[in-house]
Amino acid sequence: MKFFIDTANLDQIREANELGILDGVTTNPSLMAKEGITGQENILKHYQNICNIVDGDVSAEVISTDFKGMVEEGERLAALHSNIVVKVPMIVDGIKAISYFTEKGIRTNCTLVFSPGQAILAAKAGATYLSPFIGRIDDSSWDGMELIQQVAEIYAVQGYETQILAASIRNPLHIVKCAQYGADVVTCPLSAIMGLFKHPLTDIGLAQFLADYNKANA
Ligand code: E4P
Repeated sequence: MKFFIDTANLDQIREANELGILDGVTTNPSLMAKEGITGQENILKHYQNICNIVDGDVSAEVISTDFKGMVEEGERLAALHSNIVVKVPMIVDGIKAISYFTEKGIRTNCTLVFSPGQAILAAKAGATYLSPFIGRIDDSSWDGMELIQQVAEIYAVQGYETQILAASIRNPLHIVKCAQYGADVVTCPLSAIMGLFKHPLTDIGLAQFLADYNKANA
């Protein structure tokens, strides 16, 4: 399972990259706005900066919601760097745009996915990645992980090549369950990745090893 970081914050991207386990980055308009990145030129420059830090796929989301606009924006984004993946919302024109990009050899990430039916449409259109939003499903008192299981089963049975990129990850358990249920990628906040390190017995055990060493070597 690949690890992407879900942020537009360059310091956090660098920190995750230094762990040596980072395979890519996802962003969205809200994450860009959170970092104060505004205006077309600055946004494009920011994607370039991310691509210069991480050697892996970087999802850049279109703002347009009509086919023509998405195609124009997506082609501009894809031309920025070979690692850019054009992120397109799961709407009718989005699926048309993904089909167009597939034909042109431009890689895509179909975002805002909340149902198996949407997952089938994205795979049929040839999306490179599918982003089901686990945390937001959990927030609505449904089980986001059930969607991952169901889509993984459908894609395996049908032989679809679209990779399941589990998004809206909120905690380390989401990451563990995604690995268990066959997600190809998880995109996580840095806090969820760092949460995977935590176990009190590791800390207690290490303290004991060091204490014993220091006593024996005093
Ligand atoms: C990723 O591609 C999504 O934009 C992101 O994971 C959404 O996460 P959120 O539900 O925490 O905003």
